[in-house]
Amino acid sequence: MPGMRTQVGIVGAGPAGLMLSHLLHLRGIESVVLESRSRDHVEHRLRAGVLEQGSVDLLCRSGVGERLQREGLRHEGIELRFAGESHRVPMADLTGRAITVYGQQEVVKDLIAARLAAGGSILFEADAVRLDGLDSDSPIVHFRRDGRDEELHCDFVAGCDGFHGVSRGAVPDGVLTTYERTYPFAWLGVLAAAPPAVEELIYANHERGFALYSMRSPEISRLYLQVAPDEDIAAWPDERIWAELRARLETVPGWSLNEGPILEKSITPMRSFVVEPMRWERLFLAGDAVHIVPPTGAKGMNLALADVALLGDAFAAWYDGGRTDLLETYSAKALRRVWRAQHFSWWMTSMLHRLERDDPYESKLQTATLRYVATSEAYARSLSENYVGLPEV
Ligand code: FAD
Ligand code: PHB
Repeated sequence: MPGMRTQVGIVGAGPAGLMLSHLLHLRGIESVVLESRSRDHVEHRLRAGVLEQGSVDLLCRSGVGERLQREGLRHEGIELRFAGESHRVPMADLTGRAITVYGQQEVVKDLIAARLAAGGSILFEADAVRLDGLDSDSPIVHFRRDGRDEELHCDFVAGCDGFHGVSRGAVPDGVLTTYERTYPFAWLGVLAAAPPAVEELIYANHERGFALYSMRSPEISRLYLQVAPDEDIAAWPDERIWAELRARLETVPGWSLNEGPILEKSITPMRSFVVEPMRWERLFLAGDAVHIVPPTGAKGMNLALADVALLGDAFAAWYDGGRTDLLETYSAKALRRVWRAQHFSWWMTSMLHRLERDDPYESKLQTATLRYVATSEAYARSLSENYVGLPEV
């Protein structure tokens, strides 16, 4: 069976796997990234759009922030709409930090370009099927490419293969503990060729359900609607989407959204999910492979990047002088940030969505919470420091 060898075998070319490969390269550590999909697919998969200040700093510091700095949209606040009112949360004034709107697929493109320019090895359409020998000095990732079975031998495996990947399942039964919550709704997301009607994101709590106004560029809007978890996308022709967006967002006198051709639409289920610990023997799990948050807090991609920043340091300490301490503390350290983000994402989700049909008590609580954010500097600062990302957790 054809085999190859590297130092760190990385499963998955999402933000976590690609960033880890890049950070390891900067430390002189070799890796091979296995990705089941094509390069074109991963470069065009529409997902998250908000980078915390810490993620921007990491991308820039590691030399892959040039286009991000040129094309990313720096936002210093967000708007909350509820009960016919509109309030701006001035995040930069309250925290000294900001967020940058830059599509996840652009981060992925920049990282792939950097890895390939540096001679890095990313094998696309290479599907990891099994991990072996994780409790030995030389684990093996078995994968299929071009209809053939191949092996990647390595010192460590980084499981960065998302929620549906194989890595997490390679840990023996009884080792991992799972914590999860599913929500009784999903998000219908659209990308539209329409100039954003606002400069900052709008999070709207409406009796018809949550809506979010985001963007990708001065020409492209990104919008989301809360829908039923089993919603059929075919039931949402473009005109119905715009009508629903208007109903939920045009709640402030004199304000209207800009419409345009819908370029893409999809439905994303909402769940909170954490698996502990994030390591077993020589397998290190990162990103969506071990934790999922509902997108309301815009934390998914940021957590994935924060995990691999820790992992990069931990592998560097091991290869530099055989230090194992950072490998040993990786899981506990990463989980502190993961749980802060879990709480924040759950809190934002609970505050902004229509939770149960006809529960006036819940909806009064939501309005009271939103009004408290709008009127209390302390509460607004708490939201802001979580949203822009806490440097230390
Ligand atoms: P991923 O980006 O999922 O990357 C994992 C990679 O592993 C994928 O490329 C996959 O093809 C590959 N892979 C899987 N199995 C194998 C295998 N067996 N062998 C080889 N490769 C494999 N977050 C937000 O903040 N806002 C959003 O609007 C938002 N929308 C989302 C929509 C969807 C449909 C999803 C799934 C997630 C969304 N997220 C959003 C979350 C955010 O995109 C993720 O947190 C982020 O992608 C995590 O990065 P990752 O590298 O850990 O995982
Ligand atoms: C996005 O622009 O895709 C986006 C923004 C904020 C969120 C989620 C998604 O909370």
